[in-house]
Amino acid sequence: MTPTIAILEKIHPVGLKRLQQFSNVIDLTEIATEKALIESSNADALVVKSVTPINRETIKSIPNLKIVARAGTGMENINTQDLEELGIEYFNVPTGNSVSAAEFTIGLIFAICKKFPETLTAISKGDFRRHLLEGRELSKMTVGVIGLGNVGSRVANRLIPFGCKVIGWDKDTAKGKELNAAGGQFSEDINEIYSQSDVISLHLSLTEDTRHFLNTEAFTHIKKGTILINTARAACIDTQAMLCALDNGTLSSAAVDVLDPEPPFTQSSGLSNYTHPLLEHPKVIVTPHLAASTRDAQQVISETVGETLYRFFS
Ligand code: MLT
Repeated sequence: MTPTIAILEKIHPVGLKRLQQFSNVIDLTEIATEKALIESSNADALVVKSVTPINRETIKSIPNLKIVARAGTGMENINTQDLEELGIEYFNVPTGNSVSAAEFTIGLIFAICKKFPETLTAISKGDFRRHLLEGRELSKMTVGVIGLGNVGSRVANRLIPFGCKVIGWDKDTAKGKELNAAGGQFSEDINEIYSQSDVISLHLSLTEDTRHFLNTEAFTHIKKGTILINTARAACIDTQAMLCALDNGTLSSAAVDVLDPEPPFTQSSGLSNYTHPLLEHPKVIVTPHLAASTRDAQQVISETVGETLYRFFS
């Protein structure tokens, strides 16, 4: 029988085409999540990214569901225990976007160190006073990478050739070997990362252990004027503690690609009532969970989703 596959969040057309060759594809990417889940009630497979919550309740409302495809890395929105208990298969594509995410992170570090956002704002107002836009040289800085998994390790490896000191921490101390061999410096003491870094880049997956990893206590160890970059998950940082750190000068600036809750990615300006305190903060650059959104990564992920589902239903 031809399977029905519901797509709840946008994937690259290459994978969509592949899915259409062997299944009935329902494209629900333009409608709100709750409604999309209702419309998925006769699906055999769901394709989701980071927004759609997959848990016992959603699974039970889709009686034919056999498999969930996560078109990307993070599994925070997917209750894998519920899926296993209910006998539903699942998979993600963990390294498909790691290079894109690492490159984007480095882009944000440069954006802040070279004051690109302020420059664009000034220029758009006809203000050319370059002495107000003095940046920093990365080669004179220490970058602390917290979490040395698929993305963090790639960030570290790509930063080292810029001549900056790269220090890293991971709860898995075995990851230290690779960093040290690449010319970085692993520390088992997270407080060393906090107290030495000019830039801290967060690359933890979100688990119960890492929720609010950067909290009020952690910020007391971070040196004054640090730049914070988060392209991992927003809930790894306690937003209130971060706002205080921005206001008291612990953080000189920050760039975040992730907000908690996530903004409505399907709505254009004017249609959304979404607000978030970090969006209003003058020292913060916000991007809309964009780090993995390159054509290259999305194509690989989408192809992998298409092929994996093809094999599953053959
Ligand atoms: C991921 O976990 O793959 C990235 O954060 C991008 C996404 O959620 O789609």
